[in-house]
Amino acid sequence: MIRSVLRGTGSALPRNCVTNAQLAERVDTSDDWIVERTGIRQRYIAGEGETTSTLAIEAARSALEVAGVEASEIGLIILATATPDYTFPATATQVQRALGCRGGIAFDVQAVCSGFLYAMATADSMLRTGMAKKALVIGAETFSRILDWEDRTTCVLFGDGAGAVVLEAQDVAEDGPGILATRLHADGEHCDLLHVDGGPSSTGTVGKLRMKGREVFRHAVVNLAEVLGEVLADVEMGIDAVDWVVPHQANARILDATARKLGLPAERVIVTVDRHANTSAASVPLALDVAVRDGRIKPGDLVMFEAMGGGFTWGASLVRM
Ligand code: UT7
Repeated sequence: MIRSVLRGTGSALPRNCVTNAQLAERVDTSDDWIVERTGIRQRYIAGEGETTSTLAIEAARSALEVAGVEASEIGLIILATATPDYTFPATATQVQRALGCRGGIAFDVQAVCSGFLYAMATADSMLRTGMAKKALVIGAETFSRILDWEDRTTCVLFGDGAGAVVLEAQDVAEDGPGILATRLHADGEHCDLLHVDGGPSSTGTVGKLRMKGREVFRHAVVNLAEVLGEVLADVEMGIDAVDWVVPHQANARILDATARKLGLPAERVIVTVDRHANTSAASVPLALDVAVRDGRIKPGDLVMFEAMGGGFTWGASLVRM
């Protein structure tokens, strides 16, 4: 059967790391509050010359290198972001230009923190129907540029970064590697709970991120537990079969609550929210790359990705490495 197989991962972070204590020098907050309520200890903030595309390009190059794939072999680039360099063209085309792989398919998807899951599912469908053989799927964000630095309830939570994977359509055995199942959802009813209050067609400005955190939290735990259950039911497996869960890194308490709801031991959850904070669409591929590089996630492992974000959008995907 044809499956989309994950050939390599890569990631990139801005140069500048900002600790909670440094943030508390200019925002009315404290290291204690941020650690206790979110698990975040530091975040990376893009500086001069660093943008969503520069981070995406660095992550893409590192994933290609690990995969041993030449940029010229890439026929599809899907980049998930809510913070593109420009309204248009798509940041994916900037990545394409930098890599020098002209003529293939390249576009952005926008599903905020679930963007990487949406991008991976889109790439998976396109690879399995033969529209391309090898794809780069990237999650890249510079949320620091849409934060209201006067709003302590949101500005302490986010960071910048990028993660990328190389996917290849391969003919594999039933128990072979690749994306096994994916479920995606959206519910526009809650679009006001987490949104940016500007845009080209509404205000003509970029706008700032606004969030009713407590309500988002409540929906996140319920939706994530549900969608993980759906994916497991699709493949007729229990949570015990899953070696690792790579969740969207929004809040350590959401990770704990979701794991508890599923009966998942905490040591099988990859956690990077402490060092990266919430990097939206970049958080899942960034966390994946960390755990692949430190040797925790190995070939053959069953890995569940999950995310929930503005819209609301949410989803989960089960992959055999
Ligand atoms: O990526 C998309 C998904 N996003 C999420 O999943 C985020 C989900 N939500 C959350 O992670 C949490 O709701 C937050 C971390 C945003 C907030 O945690 P909380 O435990 O829900 O706190 P809260 O909003 O109920 O605020 C509690 C108190 C308030 O003070 P009062 O009204 O009780 O006196 C806030 O004013 O904490 C205060 N507070 C702060 N204090 C110090 C809020 N932000 C800060 C801050 N520093 N940065």
